[in-house]
Amino acid sequence: MKGKRVLLTGGTGGLGLGVTPAVLARGAEVTIPYFDAKDVERLKSFVSPEDFARIQFVPANLTDEGSVENVINRMGQVDVLIHLVGGFSMGKTHDYSLREWKRDFDLNLTTTFLVCKHSLRKMLVHGYGRIVTVGSRGALQPAGQLAAYCASKAGVVALTQAIADETKGTNITANVVLPSIIDTPTNRDAMGAENASLWVKPESLAQVICFLASEAAHDVRGAAIPVYGNI
Ligand SMILES: NC(=O)c1ccc[n+]([C@@H]2O[C@H](COP(=O)([O-])OP(=O)(O)OC[C@H]3O[C@@H](n4cnc5c(N)ncnc54)[C@H](OP(=O)(O)O)[C@@H]3O)[C@@H](O)[C@H]2O)c1
Repeated sequence: MKGKRVLLTGGTGGLGLGVTPAVLARGAEVTIPYFDAKDVERLKSFVSPEDFARIQFVPANLTDEGSVENVINRMGQVDVLIHLVGGFSMGKTHDYSLREWKRDFDLNLTTTFLVCKHSLRKMLVHGYGRIVTVGSRGALQPAGQLAAYCASKAGVVALTQAIADETKGTNITANVVLPSIIDTPTNRDAMGAENASLWVKPESLAQVICFLASEAAHDVRGAAIPVYGNI
């Protein structure tokens, strides 16, 4: 990824704390759209001051198409898209509000569509691209109280595989990783650290993502890769 222009969404989030240092270590030029400035501050503890200074931060709401276009126009070219943004809320289907349903779909699936759409426009002109999206184990093995999350992540898998099909015959690839539980600060706060040693470390998932985002992965298309750790 040396010298590649990387759009790294969610680079300030829990998974981003492992992926951002890994992408920087490979010599990429990194742009991170952020929503909450305090998470930009938190990232400072995870990368060296020199590496931090190399990151272009752009405020953005990636559920909004104009905002996505602004980020990508600021970059000029996108060689690699690593799309980590996503989130979930819980509730049984009969109690679940339409507002929350739409929020999960917006955050997981609409953001993926928008960043892929506008990155692909650049990649197709340039003739090169690597797209890595983040699904979830729940996309393959849906769990109760997570219907909107699992359905929207299944959509992320389908969208990524459709893009892989559309880009056959080019040097553009699209693949999706499917984590189980990631060892993030938020998960430790919510569930305690008792079982954290079994969860997937952000640094470990970062290795898989960085391979898929590399030139070397040119023959891997439309893969949905389980990264479950020990659970
Ligand atoms: N954590 C898990 O156990 C787990 C398991 C399976 C799959 N996943 C998936 O892995 C990915 C990363 O999860 P995570 O735990 O790192 O989540 P996280 O800590 O909540 O981070 C989410 C990131 O998305 C950004 N973001 C949220 N809404 C945005 C918006 N509208 N526009 C732009 N950026 C926005 C946040 O930016 P700010 O920091 O600026 O707010 C943050 O960087 C997600 O797709 C998630 O569904 C997570």
